[in-house]
Amino acid sequence: MRAPWIFGYGSLIWRPAFQFQERRPARLRGYARRFWQGSTDHRGRPGAPGRVVTLVAAPDQHCWGIAYRLDAGTAAEVFAALDHRERGGYERLEVRLQLGGPAETQGGEGEPIEAICYAAGPSNEDYLGEASCEAIAAQVRRSVGPSGRNDEYVLRLAEALEQMQAEDAHVQEIASRLRGRRGGPPA
Ligand code: BEZ
Repeated sequence: MRAPWIFGYGSLIWRPAFQFQERRPARLRGYARRFWQGSTDHRGRPGAPGRVVTLVAAPDQHCWGIAYRLDAGTAAEVFAALDHRERGGYERLEVRLQLGGPAETQGGEGEPIEAICYAAGPSNEDYLGEASCEAIAAQVRRSVGPSGRNDEYVLRLAEALEQMQAEDAHVQEIASRLRGRRGGPPA
């Protein structure tokens, strides 16, 4: 296998948990990041799902994240491990990215590359779909699963995007609702 790129737009931004050769901020055009996927195996439980991110087609929008170039020798192993970890509704999606973060590209186009990412569509059984930011924040606040609290997941994602100076109004809106009401344990 050639050294492939993988695009992280959720927990892979701050916790890739695999070896890589190179790590670059990148932008995926034509998609938006949304907390529309239910999590019953990581940030929630069966019957009490948390909310995690997926990608939805959005022609005029873009999603900032991190592109990792894998080692050719370990790439198959990395994908097998991610396929297993993300088996709760996610499938591999081939995408074209532009390398470079907001500060580097200044609104211009970065170098294009092909990458693989994971996305969960409406036909998977854990899909929750659209809800108001208020409802999403309320669900996140009360959810917890084997990988930890759902609010920790959202806030770490928001912090990672802030560090990259990457705007994402949906993530910011939900994170600011959580920050305003932190302190209580999840139900
Ligand atoms: C990620 O890009 O961090 C990611 C999102 C959903 C499933 C797996 C990975």
